[in-house]
Amino acid sequence: MSWIHDKAKAELARVREAREKQVYPYFREFETGGLHTTIAGKPVINFSSNDYLGLTNHPKAKEAARKAVDKYACGLSSSRVQATTVEHVELERRFASWFGFEQCLLFTTGYQAMLGTIVSLADKDTTVILDNLSHACILDGTFLAVGVPGRSPEVRFFNHNSAKSLERILKTRERKNALVVVEGIYSLDGDKAHVAEFVEICSRYDAALVVDDAHGTGTLGTRGTGILEEMNLQGNVPVVVSTLSKTFGGIGGLLLADETTVDLVKHTARSFLFSASLPVPIVAAAAAILDIVEAEGPALVRELHDKAKYMRDKLTEIGFDLGTSNTHIMPVMCKDERKTLFMHVALLECGVLMVPITYPAVKHGEERLRVNVTRGHTKEDLDIALELLKSYGDAFFVLSGEDLGPLED
Ligand SMILES: Cc1ncc(COP(=O)(O)O)c(C=O)c1O
Repeated sequence: MSWIHDKAKAELARVREAREKQVYPYFREFETGGLHTTIAGKPVINFSSNDYLGLTNHPKAKEAARKAVDKYACGLSSSRVQATTVEHVELERRFASWFGFEQCLLFTTGYQAMLGTIVSLADKDTTVILDNLSHACILDGTFLAVGVPGRSPEVRFFNHNSAKSLERILKTRERKNALVVVEGIYSLDGDKAHVAEFVEICSRYDAALVVDDAHGTGTLGTRGTGILEEMNLQGNVPVVVSTLSKTFGGIGGLLLADETTVDLVKHTARSFLFSASLPVPIVAAAAAILDIVEAEGPALVRELHDKAKYMRDKLTEIGFDLGTSNTHIMPVMCKDERKTLFMHVALLECGVLMVPITYPAVKHGEERLRVNVTRGHTKEDLDIALELLKSYGDAFFVLSGEDLGPLED
């Protein structure tokens, strides 16, 4: 096994260095759920959560899950083919109707939903066209499709959010069918995709557009159904993939499309067919959250937007660069790995968790703290975070942009 250890030693050099310098930022151990938790016994406000409407810990979601545990336990010991319940099918029906699609298919994770969708749709007659800042699930689904014997689609990338660049690729593609995949909101930059332009171009070139709306679900549109509602494009995008791991309180993936497309994916996606079905307590919690969102969606979404605006205005006033963000996801650009890690550690010492995003997740010079504002944050939480960001943004020259200088040992 020595080669594995040699490989680990080579590939984990940066991890080792960060641990030695006590700035390793990941896998922090929460001791409770919720946006207000503790780490090593110390209270922490979590700004890295994707619980965008603050409903994950809602008593109704917990109660629904508890009841489902009594009825179904925590697992069904098989995949959906052999282990579908009335709860799965009812939630699929309700999500299809809420999002405004003919049908919905529940996967066990959003990652698997995207993998399965791409691998099922893309074959040797297809050019898969991706934004160059695509999420790992989109890239991995595409790479997997390329590796399936006899199917191997062509793969091309267009410049981030650029309709012109997409059009160039559609014009010069080698295969007859085109599958274009974009995200509603890009999770590291917090910017919305130019979906209206993509819809228009895809219709001219007869390309199928897939929107991964993991971060737009629950946060965009008056009712919170996502980027298509916000941009008045419902009925214009054939396939949406989303997740239950953010607004909907647990885990799970959603495919939304017409009946034929869903049927195709349902019978061919190996990430659906060969992985255990979503546990019913998770289905029940999501259904309880959907009840709340159906009843109060517009007010909840408005509250999220008000809090996000407050945070954005204050961060901008202090002088932080928020990149291209125009949503509740706000990257606080530190533009230097050490500055980002020092900010993270200093903030955490003071009870605020903001996860650092560094190379290779982003390019060198684009390092940042990823700040997610949720409806569950109080104004006091936001003020505490702003005060600390301002102090440490000064102390670590994030605001001035000056060089941090050499490290003292
Ligand atoms: C854009 C995007 N798509 C898909 C996923 C995967 O979702 P899940 O957590 O349900 O696997 C994520 C998760 O972070 C995401 O950010």
